Amino acid sequence: MKILIINGPNLNLLGTREPDIYGSTSFEAFLDELKKRFANHQIDFYQSNHEGCLIDKLQKADNQYDAVVMNPAAYAHTSIALADCIRAIHIPVIEVHISNISQREPYRRHSYTAEACKKCISGKGLEGYALAIQSLL
Ligand code: DQA
Repeated sequence: MKILIINGPNLNLLGTREPDIYGSTSFEAFLDELKKRFANHQIDFYQSNHEGCLIDKLQKADNQYDAVVMNPAAYAHTSIALADCIRAIHIPVIEVHISNISQREPYRRHSYTAEACKKCISGKGLEGYALAIQSLL
């Protein structure tokens, strides 16, 4: 299977960003392990801090990948454009949040993008990305 992982804004800072919430592992280090665990599958990765770039990448992924695992980060709580894009493409998208968004600040409890995704995995730490891939397989 060809899977694209997309991370949204500020997730390039994983490892040093609020480690009490998001842990102290960088995404690059985690991705190396993830690729080894799913060595029979192609896993590509894209990160952007820009909403339009995330939308461009998702639109292109439609022809290039079998599925997307996406952590839209704060755009989950604000972006109807990203949610529309997920609805517009034809491949499954699974949303991941490292922290448990349902038990944090009220403004994080709703995700527009999750409504458009096949599934949302929240609060399992980085392992949530592996669980998302597992459920796609
Ligand atoms: C996050 C949760 C979001 O509310 C937050 O804005 C993030 C990270 C998570 O992975 O837990 O940037 O998506």
